[in-house]
Amino acid sequence: MLMEKILVLDFGGQYNQLIARRVREQHIYAEIKPYNRISVDEIAAAGYRGIIFTGGPNSVYDPVSPHYDPAVLALGIPILGICYGCQLIAYMAGGTVASADNSSEYGKIELTVGDDVLFCGVDRTSVCWMSHRDYISALPDGFVNIACTAKCPNAGMADHARGIYGVQFHPEVTHTAFGRQMLHNFLYDICGCCGDWRMDSFVEQKIAEYRRKLSGKKVLCALSGGVDSSVAAVLLHRAVGDNLICVFVDHGLLREGEADSVERVFRDTFSMNLIRVDAEQRFLTKLSGVSEPERKRKIIGEEFIRVFEDESKKIGKVNYLVQGTIYPDVIESGSGDASTIKSHHNVGGLPGVVDFDEIIEPLRDLFKDEVRQVGLSLGIPEELVWRQPFPGPGLAIRVIGAIDRDKLDTLRRVDAIFREEIAAASLQQDTNQYFAVLTDTRSVGVMGDARTYGRTVVLRAVTTDDFMTADWTRLPYDVLARVSSRITGEVAGITRVTYDITSKPPATVEWE
Ligand code: XMP
Repeated sequence: MLMEKILVLDFGGQYNQLIARRVREQHIYAEIKPYNRISVDEIAAAGYRGIIFTGGPNSVYDPVSPHYDPAVLALGIPILGICYGCQLIAYMAGGTVASADNSSEYGKIELTVGDDVLFCGVDRTSVCWMSHRDYISALPDGFVNIACTAKCPNAGMADHARGIYGVQFHPEVTHTAFGRQMLHNFLYDICGCCGDWRMDSFVEQKIAEYRRKLSGKKVLCALSGGVDSSVAAVLLHRAVGDNLICVFVDHGLLREGEADSVERVFRDTFSMNLIRVDAEQRFLTKLSGVSEPERKRKIIGEEFIRVFEDESKKIGKVNYLVQGTIYPDVIESGSGDASTIKSHHNVGGLPGVVDFDEIIEPLRDLFKDEVRQVGLSLGIPEELVWRQPFPGPGLAIRVIGAIDRDKLDTLRRVDAIFREEIAAASLQQDTNQYFAVLTDTRSVGVMGDARTYGRTVVLRAVTTDDFMTADWTRLPYDVLARVSSRITGEVAGITRVTYDITSKPPATVEWE
């Protein structure tokens, strides 16, 4: 059966992933394609039920702004243009887009809508989220006005005969009070979708597909204990059982109890064919005396590949190598990265050292929240499914300066106390990532009338949607006080505890 799908045609706006997620939340599969990577003919052949033109940072009159072939308007596929996407439709169809000094609108704006299928179930006046300078001053032929704000005469337009709609505001942003309803109306009433995208059916479908395709084949998976590789591994295990070999490299840079818990879950609970490689000494030797953050990251990334190479030589040739790539990785790898702030460590180098025929990426169509749903429906424990992100280089980038076993053990204890107290106060859902950093700063203190000269730790907790920007979490003072007194009381050598109140930017989430 052919699955319903919506095309999100990407013109460079900041909310494009959000648009696709909002569509999928309504149980319809959405895929994002940059406007310059898909032609009208390809769109016509792909069987989309509808197209959403995203926003974008440009003005349609800017010569370098992204444009699209107007033939898309004649395909007979319903279209919804959002912000720049709406202006682009107006421009392509012969309307006028203008810019006036007082036409900008940013933030929450009162919207008035008319009686239209797009606004069924939407209050006549409500709040919407705007972010634009240009506006549509004259509608193209065949279009009628369906919404306005005080400053924007054409905040919504429609060509009912062709099923083409445009809104100047952002229905995908939660600040637009009825945004979800409007998208629902577009998807179900205008595009005629039924909503056949369900995680449970995705899981069953994938397992059946891999069972057919991989029967009798040898499959290898690098397991980190993180959400993506764990879900990919369990899914593959359901399909091929013992033909899946998982290699878990314990680099000695994990948090307290973490390596054992990975082993317990995958070997004991899921009875998986797991090879745990104890490589702590290898990593610590390579990292000895190294204090420069980028060098640490590079060494860890390279050593990880070397360890994996050694293991894979022992295993011999495999047919498939599993990668836990998820949809945001796929989209991001399509766009050029301006400058490298940090070289993030991932398993990208493994294909070069493993003897395999083909890569399989069971999660490459899924967003993170969908990966979590798949994990839950596969029976993966909640604490693993909801695990906060943990960087590949692990605690090595949370011990500032040169690292050694002793410092790592100290940090592990401090970090565990912080996590225990966050859990005791049930604050896990109130912060997206929280951890401790061991600095190389010493300071004078006093304990039992005697002078001390101990180490300083930093507690960091951030609130964020996407980790590209982040704010520091306002943790309750009494929780911070408890964490501080436990750390100085229980961890030898730590005499000062500080809380990091820097957002990203200008800081980053991790200290190195
Ligand atoms: P930064 O420090 O860049 O971190 O603001 C943003 C998010 O990315 C995580 N992070 C990493 N994740 N490999 C990873 O898989 C890495 O090398 C790495 N470095 C940072 C960080 O924990 C935060 O969630």
